[in-house]
Amino acid sequence: MTTLAIGLLGAGRIGKVHATAIAATPDARLVAVADAIPEPAAELAAAHEAEVRSIEEIMAADDVDAVFITTPTDLHAELIEQGALAGKRVFCEKPIDLDVQRVRDCLEVVEKEDALLMVGFNRRFDPNFMALWARIHEDKAIGDVEMVSITSRDPGPPPLAYMVRSGGLFKDMTIHDFDMARFMLGEEPVAVSAFGSALVDPAVVGPIGVDSAGITLITATGKIAQIANSRRATYGYDQRVEVHGSLGMARAENLHESTVEFAGRHGYTRAPLMNFFLERYMPAYRAEVATFVHAARHGGPVSPTGDDGLQALVIAEAATRSHLERRVVEIGEI
Ligand SMILES: NC(=O)c1ccc[n+]([C@@H]2O[C@H](COP(=O)([O-])OP(=O)(O)OC[C@H]3O[C@@H](n4cnc5c(N)ncnc54)[C@H](O)[C@@H]3O)[C@@H](O)[C@H]2O)c1
Repeated sequence: MTTLAIGLLGAGRIGKVHATAIAATPDARLVAVADAIPEPAAELAAAHEAEVRSIEEIMAADDVDAVFITTPTDLHAELIEQGALAGKRVFCEKPIDLDVQRVRDCLEVVEKEDALLMVGFNRRFDPNFMALWARIHEDKAIGDVEMVSITSRDPGPPPLAYMVRSGGLFKDMTIHDFDMARFMLGEEPVAVSAFGSALVDPAVVGPIGVDSAGITLITATGKIAQIANSRRATYGYDQRVEVHGSLGMARAENLHESTVEFAGRHGYTRAPLMNFFLERYMPAYRAEVATFVHAARHGGPVSPTGDDGLQALVIAEAATRSHLERRVVEIGEI
């Protein structure tokens, strides 16, 4: 295959990001865009000289090799199955679904069809987190990994309609951190303890209203990961990972809009943090898309896999139960 022809399903926030990344990837071309609303589909298709088509047309098209699923979460599993059955290579945004059994059923279809599926845990492709991972797991620079600390705070909450459809903090937002914890620990968590609160907007009640959380994961050998989440950080998008090991510590710090610092009588000030995921993770989205395109063109394995999507959701389900039932939840229960 010379050029990978891609159909994009969902022309919203992340769909636009992936369209931009596809345009920057050699040997990939966006040929069609589908959306439930005509305007965003037409706008995105026009920007990339692609056609507006329905999802059914994209799935049936001989001139589409791969699909990018960037619709709301509740459509992902169904569209992965459709893509696998249609012989497409599939990239799907996280999470695969909110229900663990639904994900297991979906992955069975993927396996039966021997389809290529990559899940959008973009942070694994962030150059800083990749370098951190390489120092720890390739260079063994800090000896044995013992504790991982992840701080992940958004500048502000998403719209309520998004929050309701996306399943809440643990399965929508923290799922990235669960994947990062697995990635950095190099082992699977066996138990989860989570506390969540509605501190940013107490008016949003129930599980969807959780906007602040502290979560602890432990592996069978006793390695620990701690995750701190908030849907509000007045100072920008706070994304830090620190790993402590038997021989030292390594961490990846926040990225600022520039490296400019000002010093005056009252101390130092620095440029603000990058505002949100669109800015902070654009290099990661590009590397993610390039990785998928390479694997799809050459038939190679992909990572993160559907199973990575499942494992992160299992931890998110355990965290949800731990928060709701105020107890430690064993992963084996899920
Ligand atoms: N990896 C990341 O960094 C990241 C960031 C944001 C969102 N996401 C994930 O991406 C998905 C989409 O999130 P978003 O923020 O782009 O949402 P969004 O609401 O901005 O975009 C979703 C798009 O899908 C369209 N859509 C809805 N129903 C459809 C249907 N039946 N057929 C076709 N199109 C339909 C909507 O009209 C909209 O344009 C979510 O699952 C979310 O978890 C991932």
